[in-house]
Amino acid sequence: MIQLHNVSLRIGSLQILDNVSLSLEKGKVGAILGPSGAGKSTILKLILGLWQPDEGCVTIDGLDICHLPENELLPIRRKMGMIFQGNALFDSLNVRENVGYFLYEEKKLSEKEIADKVAEVLAFLNLFNIEHMYPDELSGGMKKRVAIARALVFNPEIILYDEPTAGLDPINSKSIRDLIKRVQAKNKATSIVVTHIMNDAIELGNQITLLQEGKIIENGSVRDILNSEHEFVKDFFYEIFKDAEILKKNT
Ligand SMILES: Nc1ncnc2c1ncn2[C@@H]1O[C@H](COP(=O)(O)OP(=O)(O)O)[C@@H](O)[C@H]1O
Ligand SMILES: [Mg+2]
Repeated sequence: MIQLHNVSLRIGSLQILDNVSLSLEKGKVGAILGPSGAGKSTILKLILGLWQPDEGCVTIDGLDICHLPENELLPIRRKMGMIFQGNALFDSLNVRENVGYFLYEEKKLSEKEIADKVAEVLAFLNLFNIEHMYPDELSGGMKKRVAIARALVFNPEIILYDEPTAGLDPINSKSIRDLIKRVQAKNKATSIVVTHIMNDAIELGNQITLLQEGKIIENGSVRDILNSEHEFVKDFFYEIFKDAEILKKNT
């Protein structure tokens, strides 16, 4: 279970997060939806323990991770797979080396064991014959898949996706959403999908949190959000109301 308890964070004079409380049960997908600059990526950094809040705390399965020394944070972070918005692949490493990067770093497994593990994850993601390719040689959709593969090699209990479909065309976006659902069905991880795209939140989230200027303005099921009377929510979902198909399928 991932929880933020009354979390506030300022950078300089800017209030990045303002009294944010959030709770996501084990095995569920939480979508955090909001416009650019709302503080979505900041929430992921706090969950990863990369940043500490000024007030409040973040707990993972009840453990407060905001006051832990780095050496105690590492095993917790090891349970998390993060897919960065820009993928954060290493350009000078091929796909196998990228996907196996943290396994090579850890030096617990042999070359052969790592290669097998990488091949297994790539096969699950329907990525074949690309192990020797470099990120530059891959399309945007493929890079995203490789970034997801790298997050999956540790069989993470928590998966954090930062804007997984940003910059992808509609077909690739759909294929990444389908992939995330497949990963979820297999791994049963507790996952957070941060997005400014309504389709992503509605299709993927068991729970949707709307964030605006560092504040949570709505939190609930797709139906709860759609029924919200909040002006911002109405504006945000205007496109969805027009599209009865999506509503029928997912509420
Ligand atoms: N390292 C930083 N230094 C100063 N301001 C930052 C930093 N990172 C993020 N911000 C500011 O915090 C706010 C929230 O950022 P972010 O969490 O990245 O938003 P989102 O992911 O929703 O687009 C923005 O106003 C952004 O400019
Ligand atoms: Mg962001």
